[in-house]
Amino acid sequence: MLTRLGDASPRVSNRGFCRVALLAGASLAPILLLALGFSFPIRCLGNCLAQESRRCLLMSLWLPTEIELNHYALRSREEFLQRRAWRLHADGFDDSQLTAEFVKREEREHMSSCQTPGRQMRFLPVMDAFRSMTWPERQRRFHTFEYQGRSHFITAVLEVNLATSEDEYLLEWIDFHSAAGMDHFVIYDAKNLTSTRQMLEPYTARGIVDLWPCRPTASGSCIPTDELVPGNGPQQRDFRMFAVTSIARQKSSFWIAQLDLDEFMFPRRRSSLRDVLWPETQPDGVQMFFVWQLNHGSAGWIAKPPMRQIEAYTRCSQQRDWNGKSIAQADSIQLTGPKRYTGDPHRLVPEDSQGVTAAWR
Ligand SMILES: *[C@@H]1O[C@H](CO)[C@@H](O)[C@H](O)[C@H]1NC(C)=O
Repeated sequence: MLTRLGDASPRVSNRGFCRVALLAGASLAPILLLALGFSFPIRCLGNCLAQESRRCLLMSLWLPTEIELNHYALRSREEFLQRRAWRLHADGFDDSQLTAEFVKREEREHMSSCQTPGRQMRFLPVMDAFRSMTWPERQRRFHTFEYQGRSHFITAVLEVNLATSEDEYLLEWIDFHSAAGMDHFVIYDAKNLTSTRQMLEPYTARGIVDLWPCRPTASGSCIPTDELVPGNGPQQRDFRMFAVTSIARQKSSFWIAQLDLDEFMFPRRRSSLRDVLWPETQPDGVQMFFVWQLNHGSAGWIAKPPMRQIEAYTRCSQQRDWNGKSIAQADSIQLTGPKRYTGDPHRLVPEDSQGVTAAWR
């Protein structure tokens, strides 16, 4: 599952160009094949394959990067309404408006149009294995890293319990990303819930999770929970800014991923994100992958399904969203100057930042 650091092959200087050419070829091939394959029979047989099926097939085959991002944007109808209940007060919404929003996203945005490509399912056996694995074994295989003074390879930054308690999703999210190759998590609990703290205790005790029970200011001091203004944008950036710049400053990890609890990032074909990122882990490697999200709908669930999200929500959009999240080398985070990182939830490195090649692939 994990790549050992010593296994990496020596670097070749024109590797970047070859890789781009190869990738371009590899990405275009399915499209050309599809174009050839489809235009011909369709002319002959009319709608032998409906337009929607074609779109779904194309969506599942074509991907601009080696990293995927599934976004469980709706979940079941009940969960959607429960999660956004705060809007009833904050925005003066009523129940029917919330329901209308759900229906709009599900139907007009076609969030349950296609069968999900489902490549995330291959991490289920590893997640199951965690249950019978001892903590020392899990730690040794999935959370141990020590190279050039850095104790983590990929650190993910996450905020939870912003509106409602999210305990029921948290362990699935951590275990999934552990299975997919992330080894360390920095989590901000906006509500400082006892239940969250207790649930994470085995992880925090072993340094797998760093849990922040309060929102740190840029200098690392605590803003007490009851002094936070709900929905205050600039304050919401504080935690990300603090967490990301601390990792970059301390060089505690090589890569930083920024995600939400309903987002699942994983390698498209390789067995671990480490396999994708290790060859890029160097100053002239890819500095940031911006990964387009694939929105998943309710798949027809009305109430919370009795299984994990990645198993239950098997329907998604016909195409990837232009929006997404990023995973970047910690060393490419700008700490000063006009391009410094200020808490953007999507891009860790600005597109045109000088001296930084940010690649989207
Ligand atoms: C979090 O809650 C615990 C008690 O559950 C309390 O001792 C601690 O001071 C709280 N921290 C913050 C920052 O509110």
